[in-house]
Amino acid sequence: MRRAGEGASGGSRLGAEAVIKVDNLSFRYLGSEDYALKDITLEVKRGDFVVLAGRSGCGKTTLLRCLNGLIPNFYEGDFSGRVLVCGMDTRETPPHILSQKAGMVFQNPDNQLFALSVEADVAFPLENLGLPREVILERVEWALKLLGIEDLRDRSPFELSGGQKQKVAIASILAMKPDVLLLDEPTSSLDPASAKSLIDSIVELNRREGLTIIISEHRLELLLPHASRLMVMDRGRIVYDSDPRSVLEGGDLLAYGIALPRASEVARYVNLRGGCLRFEKIPLSVDEFVERVRGFIA
Ligand SMILES: Nc1ncnc2c1ncn2[C@@H]1O[C@H](COP(=O)(O)OP(=O)(O)O)[C@@H](O)[C@H]1O
Ligand SMILES: [Mg+2]
Repeated sequence: MRRAGEGASGGSRLGAEAVIKVDNLSFRYLGSEDYALKDITLEVKRGDFVVLAGRSGCGKTTLLRCLNGLIPNFYEGDFSGRVLVCGMDTRETPPHILSQKAGMVFQNPDNQLFALSVEADVAFPLENLGLPREVILERVEWALKLLGIEDLRDRSPFELSGGQKQKVAIASILAMKPDVLLLDEPTSSLDPASAKSLIDSIVELNRREGLTIIISEHRLELLLPHASRLMVMDRGRIVYDSDPRSVLEGGDLLAYGIALPRASEVARYVNLRGGCLRFEKIPLSVDEFVERVRGFIA
């Protein structure tokens, strides 16, 4: 397995165009003693699906803020190194341009919704861009459909469930046709069923639309079978960056405060016991686990 730093592209797809390029990025918030990010170098290619994991306070949110230019444009501190989004340096590009390229969905959807109807919320950023009315209607329709929330169009965002609100927040960003979608623990306030539905939608965006996704998330089991990369952070550094199975097989995730998906944990335990049952590949989900066990029995 490739540990972070042994190659800039991690488990990334070879030959694809780099949407994000980070070189030797360090950042310290104004008034803090410690650097929140320490010498981060990475590249994200078009179509990548990156899961960002690590214990609370390791720097996930700070890294995402750097990728859409909130840092250094809105947060003060010591910034060094370079972040390029679609080839544009975040220090030199106006934030409203960057936010169209790298759209960010936050933990709490209430901070992103404000209009009287779902449709108006999704249309708002497009109206701000001054796009023609037909284009706006077409984009809103497209985004609502991708998230499967066309039936919510006339509802007030404030009467929706947390999961529905989060889908509206994603739709309003998608409507801007970003090159990369950044999501910061989008399921943290959702119940398990809503979280699964949201993650299914995110997986579909990557699969069907080829959208580049970077998501920080605790619910690894739902994401890892679909992710192209698992990036693990610890105290401001990236400690693993490779395809999820390699990280699960070769890495020590517990040391970094990350719980393995249950199916992976049980399979590793079975392998350690050294009986006749052996998993050649560690399963990433219960479905994969069951499939493998069925294979043993057949
Ligand atoms: N706005 C801020 N001002 C000062 N320090 C911050 C701010 N946001 C985060 N930090 C600090 O930066 C470090 C990384 O935090 P964060 O990026 O939020 O981690 P994570 O998202 O992985 O929980 C932590 O030590 C945290 O206290
Ligand atoms: Mg965070």
